[in-house]
Amino acid sequence: MGWYSTQVVPRLVNTACGSRVTRARRQQVCAGLHGRVLEIGFGSGLNVPFYPADVQVVDAVEPADVGWRLAARRLAASPVAVRRSGLDGQLLHFADDTFDGALSTWTLCTIPDPLAALREVRRVLRPGAALHFVEHGLAPDAGVQRWQHRLEPFQQRLAGGCHLSRPITALLNDAGWDVLGLQTLYERGAPKVLGADVTGTAVASGP
Ligand SMILES: C[S@@+](CC[C@H](N)C(=O)[O-])C[C@H]1O[C@@H](n2cnc3c(N)ncnc32)[C@H](O)[C@@H]1O
Repeated sequence: MGWYSTQVVPRLVNTACGSRVTRARRQQVCAGLHGRVLEIGFGSGLNVPFYPADVQVVDAVEPADVGWRLAARRLAASPVAVRRSGLDGQLLHFADDTFDGALSTWTLCTIPDPLAALREVRRVLRPGAALHFVEHGLAPDAGVQRWQHRLEPFQQRLAGGCHLSRPITALLNDAGWDVLGLQTLYERGAPKVLGADVTGTAVASGP
């Protein structure tokens, strides 16, 4: 990975993903997490202030060293213990049935093989445990979808491999998750191509 990807992209993400609107969404998505939690694509720790008090420890999986460094102040202020426990959500070094919950916020756009990551998260969650998510992806409207496909190559180069048009709910289903309480929305203040979000929780659909 080059200088732009390792040094610039994590800082861009830290700024772009840190707005007031995203903070409200983070609070909503983190609600209900408890016990031992896995967070994939931890970034610069923008979810840390929203971990509920019932969370005992968070195992954070994040490849970007700069993201981890940018998280330092949030980590120092957090009553919840957080440890960097991996670099790649596609290959998790945890035993089956390890976690009480998992968290992914705007991460499935960037992981090269999101299906592999979703299968891994499913493997390491205890039976009945939920993945809490908010992700941007394929918009519900054909006109917006057309622009997403046009802009996708530029977005991928600018934003460290971020895809605009991944069908997040279908990916979850294909990886063996049932989605509960699904909300589909355009995030306020974001361009529709980038702000077509789905949010909810997901539980493993079977053995
Ligand atoms: C758009 S950022 C979102 C960061 C963070 N989740 C947030 O809400 O601010 C996507 C994140 O996914 C991370 N990422 C990329 N490939 C990954 C992988 N294979 N496994 C885990 N995280 C990955 C990136 O480094 C980046 O921090």
